[in-house]
Amino acid sequence: MIWPAEAIWEAVSPLLPGFTVEVLPEIDSTNTELMRRAHAGQIEPVLLVAERQTAGRGRLGRDWSSETLTQGRTLTFSLGLPLAPADWSGLSLAVGLSVVQSLHPQLRLKWPNDVWLHDRKLAGILIETASVGQTRYVVIGVGINMVAPDATGLRTLPAGLREVLPQVRAPDVLEHLMLPLVQAVQRFGMLGFAPLVGAFAARDVLQGREVVCSDGLTGMARGVDASGALLVHTASGVRKITSAEVSVRPVSLGDDQPQ
Ligand code: BTN
Repeated sequence: MIWPAEAIWEAVSPLLPGFTVEVLPEIDSTNTELMRRAHAGQIEPVLLVAERQTAGRGRLGRDWSSETLTQGRTLTFSLGLPLAPADWSGLSLAVGLSVVQSLHPQLRLKWPNDVWLHDRKLAGILIETASVGQTRYVVIGVGINMVAPDATGLRTLPAGLREVLPQVRAPDVLEHLMLPLVQAVQRFGMLGFAPLVGAFAARDVLQGREVVCSDGLTGMARGVDASGALLVHTASGVRKITSAEVSVRPVSLGDDQPQ
């Protein structure tokens, strides 16, 4: 596959001096690789794209199976860069928002950062940070299904981007979303999540739906606050869900197992 590494480099490097773009035919996980490099002291801004991941990782310690054997069915990449926000909360929402805004009007966000199409999961985001000396380094991993993978074993039915953009190719998607993504991350670094509350609301899958959380809490999802915490109206009042360890699922998906 031909990747637009140079075009992305030209667009992004004015914003991120020292930025490089790397495309690998195969790696265990782009996030794992950039975290390994960070722990070895390599903290220059980088975009690492993998055509195959053999050990892709998802949130909450899950695997991210990416149909690795069939080229072009998934877009998997990680963006690593130094970042120093006053408050990290809401970064995953800001990243998800940038991705959906770049890709298609029908895409929605399922708090905190899954991308959904018609109640099926189209993309996932895994954000990790490392402290390297005085510098905080963030690795933003994104996996986008171009074509829905086999649903076997998946908690949420999968979707693929080609359902709404039939001809689209992974390299074009990458080129299209990368500059806005870098801009969104830098804006987050300066302003945090608060300016994005309204934009998140416009894409919020859970808004007004009954949800069940993995800690057993149930209630009605009522958007997010200025820190990106999910507001759940329960019988005993409004609860703010902030923990990345809590997962949330709409009850209407047919079972009561949190994703
Ligand atoms: C999730 O839905 O739980 C997050 C999935 C994140 C997958 C991407 S693919 C590129 C990067 N490398 C990984 O190992 N994971 C992220």
